[in-house]
Amino acid sequence: MSFDTTEANRRTAVFDDHDELWLFGYGSLIYKAGFDYIERAPATIEGWVRRYWQGSHDHRGTPHAPGRVVTLVEAPGASCLGMAYRVTPAVFDYLDHREKNGYLRFAQPMTFVDGHTEKGLVYIATPDNAAWLGEAPVEDIAAQVVASTGPSGPNRDYVLNLADALAELDADDAHCQAVAARVRELIVA
Ligand code: BEZ
Repeated sequence: MSFDTTEANRRTAVFDDHDELWLFGYGSLIYKAGFDYIERAPATIEGWVRRYWQGSHDHRGTPHAPGRVVTLVEAPGASCLGMAYRVTPAVFDYLDHREKNGYLRFAQPMTFVDGHTEKGLVYIATPDNAAWLGEAPVEDIAAQVVASTGPSGPNRDYVLNLADALAELDADDAHCQAVAARVRELIVA
């Protein structure tokens, strides 16, 4: 499989007839959208957890020394808190390019704080993609993060910004907080 998922995403015809739709953000989208949106609101998706299991060869690392960024991993019974954005379809051209290193668009329901649910899109890098790194001990993930930097900046900034954004959302995410805590320890050592 190619690293570049842009074309596969363009062929995804789901919601093509919509003037606007919801996009669920669970990673850098929580703290930095980088596109115009109509509104945004905290939301959860059910059956998924956030994990630092995806390689970043193009943003927070390089092809020879990839960093680690989050993806969603199936976990029946779990839920993942993030930030939903109501956007126009033009945003997907931009995001298909920005997130081309293994992320595909999936249609998923998301639930808002008031309890109502909307079907929208979420980008997920699944285990069969070429940039997948998979599970590793927190210690190893943190060491890789501290050692990695790419065109979008140091991998540690991504991890610490995401941890701060999750804390602000009051998200209970033991994995992301554990990685961030170990990264903080390593960078002051
Ligand atoms: C996000 O921050 O939610 C996101 C992660 C990977 C690809 C696109 C968006």
